[in-house]
Amino acid sequence: MKVAPSLLAANFLHLEREIRAVEEAGADLLHLDIMDGHFVPNLTFGLPLIKTIKKISRIPVDVHFMVTNPEQYLLEMAEIGVDYVSIHQESVWHLQRQISVLKSAGVKAGVALNPATPVITLYPILPELDFVLLMSVNPGFGGQKFLPMVYPKLRELKEYAGRVNQGLEIEVDGGVNNLNAPQLIELGADILVAGTYIFSHSDYKQQILGLRT
Ligand code: DX5
Ligand code: ZN
Repeated sequence: MKVAPSLLAANFLHLEREIRAVEEAGADLLHLDIMDGHFVPNLTFGLPLIKTIKKISRIPVDVHFMVTNPEQYLLEMAEIGVDYVSIHQESVWHLQRQISVLKSAGVKAGVALNPATPVITLYPILPELDFVLLMSVNPGFGGQKFLPMVYPKLRELKEYAGRVNQGLEIEVDGGVNNLNAPQLIELGADILVAGTYIFSHSDYKQQILGLRT
């Protein structure tokens, strides 16, 4: 199981120090939340910062687009060398086209689902995906309360992927902590994103360990 700290909860004044700290604490991926004020009611950061972070990161970078029209940024992600990119199913008209753009550019391609979007909407495209990101909060903000409605979705996705795409990675994002992690892992989550849970304590190593055990 991989742990992906969400930098949204890090100290933005000391980003490099924060990145080194989670790397040393055992993080597997760096999760970057991109918000545009349209798809979600919040703004974060954009391409210049993604590029800068990718330059210094020693672990793979995972970009989560919570924006309308993410398609205009996908090739740039490949140029920057971003490792994982997820776009929201609810944010694009032609999902299969955008997934093939990512894949042919050599980026791991994922689709993110809002809590209210059923897993079945991904069935046709599932064999083509590298990963699926299941939101366990409504996207837009860190520090929200975990929504248990993700559990049956995770179970269903794991079961269906076992038949059509055994290499699929499943990422769960939002309100993840040491209390819900055991059940998420048991149900088959491969990547856990955690922002507040990791960065709101001084000992990142212990927090990450708390997700794994
Ligand atoms: C929410 C973001 C999440 C969030 C996770 O819109 O996609 O990645 O920052 O933060 P926590 O763990 O605080 O819910
Ligand atoms: Zn995210």
